[in-house]
Amino acid sequence: MANLTARKNLAELINSAEAVHEGSLKRSLGPFNLVMLGIGAIIGAGIFVLTGEVASQYAGPAITISFIIAAFACACAGLCYAELASMIPIAGSVYTYSYATVGEFFAWIVGWDLIIEYLFAASTVSVGWSGYIVSLLKNIGITIPSALTSAPFAYDDGIGFHTTGALINLPAVAIILVITIILVLGVQESARFNNVIVAIKTSVIVLFLVAGVSYVHTGNWVPFIPENTGEFGRFGWTGIFRGAAIIFFAYIGFDAVSTAAQEAKNPQRDLPIGILGSLIICTLLYIAVGLVLTGIVPYTKLAVPDPIAVGIDATGLTWLSPIIKLGAIAGLSSVILVMLLGQPRIFFTMANDGLLPAAFSKVHPKFKTPYISTIITGAVAMALAAVFPIGILSKLVSLGTLLAFAMVCLAVLILRKTHADTPRPFKTPLTPLVPIAGIAACLGCMAFVNRFAWELLGIWMALGITVYFLYGAKHSKAQHQAASS
Ligand code: ALA
Repeated sequence: MANLTARKNLAELINSAEAVHEGSLKRSLGPFNLVMLGIGAIIGAGIFVLTGEVASQYAGPAITISFIIAAFACACAGLCYAELASMIPIAGSVYTYSYATVGEFFAWIVGWDLIIEYLFAASTVSVGWSGYIVSLLKNIGITIPSALTSAPFAYDDGIGFHTTGALINLPAVAIILVITIILVLGVQESARFNNVIVAIKTSVIVLFLVAGVSYVHTGNWVPFIPENTGEFGRFGWTGIFRGAAIIFFAYIGFDAVSTAAQEAKNPQRDLPIGILGSLIICTLLYIAVGLVLTGIVPYTKLAVPDPIAVGIDATGLTWLSPIIKLGAIAGLSSVILVMLLGQPRIFFTMANDGLLPAAFSKVHPKFKTPYISTIITGAVAMALAAVFPIGILSKLVSLGTLLAFAMVCLAVLILRKTHADTPRPFKTPLTPLVPIAGIAACLGCMAFVNRFAWELLGIWMALGITVYFLYGAKHSKAQHQAASS
């Protein structure tokens, strides 16, 4: 019988984190770079692509309220993330920390769920990338047949799961392939490179806002909350909440700040600044985009793969459109890179613990990268991006990540009881209020996601539990240690 609560030794982990720290990492990141790191991981397909779907199908101009609800859930979860990250500042922190405290099975579920946040999100963003590149190529007279640029499968609430007649989303596969090759060859995450990309992304958004604001017709905002169609989640307040659950995707990535805990100059003060600062800046930008976009284009016309570009076209400033598209393409590429870089690190840690085969933690002798897990991550991400549309992928990612964040909040509550004395350089304020509000907000949003996404999440989790009992439980190093001591 598997020992579901087998644990790693906490003191050993903290010591090894400190040893790694002394050996290699410098505490070089101040509050500014941490905020930039957050924004770099956050701004992507959510704002550039999903705003269109949410406004046109679920919330209308009230997408701004959806943005605020999702931001609240993220802020609570973000503060909890910061506490865990500061307690044990090593890569894969939530998974590892759950392992040392709550136990192996909980940790495995968190880790398996994080695959949705990283790997599946990379596929989602690459489908968004494909939409923008296809649109840009069209501007310069190159048209790729739509059978080669869209997903062969789709899901509609009325029809269910069906085929579309398309063959493959080739551009989405291509961008993942290129980034996977770059990652296998080795890439240094650099704060300076990140700052440049963030500057491009935010400039594009600010440009859109400045150019668009004088073309807003306030009539497009009436009614601000379109009446519910009679169907749960289609406009009205249920639509706003469903919109919040889906647009939550736009905020995913701020947890990247917490994983930089070891490199922060002053984690206690600067981690919350990085997490909350990047969230506040993005929330303000998102609300402004929501208002301007639904002000210049009637929300019913936003069911397109490149809503921000469509918004600019509607103003007549068509010369701006390619600039916006190029900026979006650069921004989306960097998010894919961050996701495809993060996933192998989690696999790497899980394999070191014996929960995945050792191949996942193999480092390339020349490039010094975890090349096998990077290639597997890339291959699976390509397969998903090739056949599924952004509507299916993004809902699954939002649902899975909301679950992971709820578990992070829960872990903080549990650890305050079980490990009350472990030093916490950063403490979540107003505990237990903030973690409880975080759990309520995340689970609350999850309740509004459609059934199909829930079924996919169920299948994914069932697969995870099967893998655990067939492989992880038998090869776990923590269990072997527990048995032999
Ligand atoms: N927040 C990231 C995006 O919107 C995942 O692309």
